[in-house]
Amino acid sequence: MTDAASTGTTFQPRVFSGIQPSGGLTLGNYLGAMRRFVDWQDKGLNDGFETIFCMVDLHAITVWQDPEALRRQTRELAAGYIASGLDPAKAILFNQSQVHEHTQLAWIFNCIARMGWMQRMTQWKDKAGKNQQNASLGLFAYPSLMAADILVYHATHVPVGEDQKQHIELTRDIAIKFNNDYGVDFFPVTEPVIEGAATRVMSLRDGSKKMSKSDPSDMARINMTDDADAIAQKIRKARTDPEALPSEAEGLDGRAEARNLVNIYAALADQTVDQVLADVGGKQFSEFKPMLAELAVAKLSPISTEMARLMEAPDEIDAILRNGAERARAIAAPVLKKTYDIVGMIR
Ligand code: TYM
Repeated sequence: MTDAASTGTTFQPRVFSGIQPSGGLTLGNYLGAMRRFVDWQDKGLNDGFETIFCMVDLHAITVWQDPEALRRQTRELAAGYIASGLDPAKAILFNQSQVHEHTQLAWIFNCIARMGWMQRMTQWKDKAGKNQQNASLGLFAYPSLMAADILVYHATHVPVGEDQKQHIELTRDIAIKFNNDYGVDFFPVTEPVIEGAATRVMSLRDGSKKMSKSDPSDMARINMTDDADAIAQKIRKARTDPEALPSEAEGLDGRAEARNLVNIYAALADQTVDQVLADVGGKQFSEFKPMLAELAVAKLSPISTEMARLMEAPDEIDAILRNGAERARAIAAPVLKKTYDIVGMIR
């Protein structure tokens, strides 16, 4: 249960998260998000709460997307969700632009959030770069739409990677300010759920940078669509240091690249870092890298094969998304209606 901002209304648990269909799903997206969505889906099924996972195409267009590519990438992301283990019979899977309540609530939140809050967002600063005047207004308002994604379902838990923490904190600030401004206990103060060994998967070429689809070097990342040879080659060429692996986690301090490969191994093997190091401590990278490559191929190949199979039936993907959107709207519409009432709009 999560408390509302002021007087402690309790909200039933509900999980929401999303990924941008901006092309090139990486191992970071898989370990930091998708695989954990599957755990939440199963927990939701056991404990009787809803889990909702979205392809956030409206966020993707805050930077230029070719229309045909966007359509393909959205289907590819849906295929990635399903191939990773999300099941439309167990969780709600849908595409953001098909549920208009997101943008309608986002407008209300644009009037709640302050310019200063948005200006502090590190993702805005990174993506807009030096030429902020030329960035889209949508890129600036991005976190407000993200807050709407979450709060239009009264979601209480949002599993994400470390890089999204600041956006979830802003979502909490928006919920609190809305509740205070209107004197209600309407929106829950959502918890970011950032857990596991792979909340921040780093570049294979530079252990101080996040693994990202926008890195200019393809060798820096593992893509969900890479074949076995590409995965093995990228791991073989991953940057490391000359020392052997330590037997305990403290031995990874100051060794960003070594820590990253061990974290990836732990996440793929569903083990803790300590368990991995108990096995591989003392080994050289020349011995550890083939083990990691074998594990990565074993885990990722079935997913990429299944994604390719699903992509051959785009109509089936579209039907799953339409159905998911209907189910999502059934939850979102009453929340938006009530928000309009609170704000003072005539219906
Ligand atoms: P996006 O599309 O950049 O990334 C999707 C998810 O993948 C995680 N992730 C990583 N995790 C670990 N290591 C990495 N190297 C790595 N790279 C990406 C991200 O943390 C994220 O969880 N703003 C969001 C999308 C969004 C959203 C939402 C998320 C829109 N509305 C509502 C949650 C709830 C984004 O750009 O994620």
